[in-house]
This record gives sequence, C-alpha cells and structure tokens, in this order.
Amino acid sequence: MHEQVAGTVVALTGASSGIGEATAHHLAARGARLVLGARRQDRLDAVVGAITAAGGDAVGVVVDVTRRDDLRHLVDTAVERHGRLDVLVSNAGTMNVTPFDQLDQDGWDAMVATHVTGLLNGIAAALPVFRRQASGQFVNVGSTAAYVVKAPQGVYAATKTAVKILTEGLRQESGPDLRVTLVSPGFTDTEGVGKGTTGDVAAWMEQQRVAIAMPPSAVANAIGFAIEQPAGVDVSEIVVRPTAQA
Ligand SMILES: NC(=O)c1ccc[n+]([C@@H]2O[C@H](COP(=O)([O-])OP(=O)(O)OC[C@H]3O[C@@H](n4cnc5c(N)ncnc54)[C@H](OP(=O)(O)O)[C@@H]3O)[C@@H](O)[C@H]2O)c1
Repeated sequence: MHEQVAGTVVALTGASSGIGEATAHHLAARGARLVLGARRQDRLDAVVGAITAAGGDAVGVVVDVTRRDDLRHLVDTAVERHGRLDVLVSNAGTMNVTPFDQLDQDGWDAMVATHVTGLLNGIAAALPVFRRQASGQFVNVGSTAAYVVKAPQGVYAATKTAVKILTEGLRQESGPDLRVTLVSPGFTDTEGVGKGTTGDVAAWMEQQRVAIAMPPSAVANAIGFAIEQPAGVDVSEIVVRPTAQA
C-alpha cells in the first residue's frame, strides 16, 4: 500500500492492454480503487479479474472514448461506487502511423477522434465532478512524438501535440484545487506499436519495439509518481523514454 495512493479513486481509459493495463496493476498494488475503461470487454474482464484475484479493487466499464455518453458513464460509475473521483487517466490511444501518400483517412480520423475528441470527452465528464469536490487530477497520456516529429508520424504527432496543448491550457484554467499532468512516453513495448499500420512502417516499428522499447511499467511508474504527490503539488509534465531512443 502507498500512503498517498491507497483509497484514491482512479478512472482510467485504455485499460485493456499495454500502458493502461500496466498502470492499472501499478495503482491497484498501491491500494487505488479503479474504474477501468476500454472497448474490448474480454480483455477488460481479464485485467479486472487479475486485479481482484490479487486483492485489489477494480471494476470494468465498456467505453469508447469517442462517445460522450461512455465517458460520462465511466465517471458516473466511479461516483456511484465510491462517492467521488480523484483522478482521470486519459490513456486510450491508437497509433495509426502511415505515410500521407497512403491516404489512410480512417486511421487519421481514429487518431483525431481518440486523442483529441476522446480527451475532451473525458474533460467534460470529469471537470464538473472535480469542481464540485474542489479536488481532482487529470493525467493525460501524450507522446514523445509531440516533441520530435519523425516521418511518417505526422498525423499521430499532430494529435499528440493537441494533447500536450490541451493539457497545458487546462492546467492554466484549473485553479488551485485541481492537478493537471501530461505524461509523454517514448517507445514502449505494447501490442499497440505497429498495430494500425502495414508494410515497411510496420516492420520498422516492430524492429524498434524489439530493439529499444521500454516496458509499459516504466510509464505506469511515471503516472503513479504524478498521482502520489501530496495535495497542492502538481507534477505538470513527465517525458519518459528509453535511453536508446534518439
Ligand atoms: N507504445 C508506445 O510506444 C507509445 C508511445 C507514446 C505514447 N503512447 C500512447 O500510450 C497510450 C496507450 O497505448 P499503448 O502503447 O499501451 O497501446 P495499446 O496496448 O494498443 O493500448 C491502447 C489502449 O487504448 C484503448 N483504446 C483505443 N481506442 C479506444 C477508444 N476509442 N475507446 C476506448 N479505448 C480505446 C485500447 O483498448 P480497446 O481496443 O479494448 O478499446 C487499449 O486498451 C496511447 O495513447 C498511445 O498513443 C504509446
């Protein structure tokens, strides 16, 4: 158990795999009470099952972050179950990295809808609760792609830059009661790397994943660090990347 994390009510999107799954386990082991969201019910159930089998407190809610009602349902579940929401981790994401010439408009739309609209849906759902409580924390998962743009990551990097800008804008408006944190990972060993792409790019991403990626627990540690700070201390921004990443 961790003094600052034990009992904290955390809603987390993208909890069915990768960084979200690792973060759920990290926080559960420290005594957080979790409300986990993702679209794949079977994978979500497996994560919830593993946490509860280990004595942790977690419930799963099927959530598509592109849908406003789903984010409201996630937040409402936390409030109904625990009477409050302390942290919303907006982690859901999709890495449809393709060259512009491929014209993967569905992939572009998915990234805009997931990273930009999805983040805004989370803010709209949680902000009124945080204001009512006069406390709460947004933890938004960005990417090093928002700091160094590398082809063919243009659209992905643009949406993650939007995450960075929205997070800083929200922080400035949040006032003294709320905390707003951006956690920007570099190459992380998850199933999401290369998932939304094909051909040479998929091969390159897979090669990078094998060669240099850090474990998702590295990002979970960073998210946990931001959450475990005492009230009144806001870790605004963490960039966490493999040492081997240029
Ligand atoms: N891995 C990396 O190298 C890396 C680097 C920098 C940043 N990131 C960011 O880290 C975050 C997590 O990615 P990951 O690497 O852990 O990949 P991942 O294993 O593919 O995880 C992505 C998660 O997001 C969920 N998700 C995707 N679209 C969703 C939607 N519309 N609604 C709800 N949930 C959705 C997925 O679950 P369902 O499919 O079940 O919905 C899954 O749980 C993303 O924001 C990603 O951009 C990753």
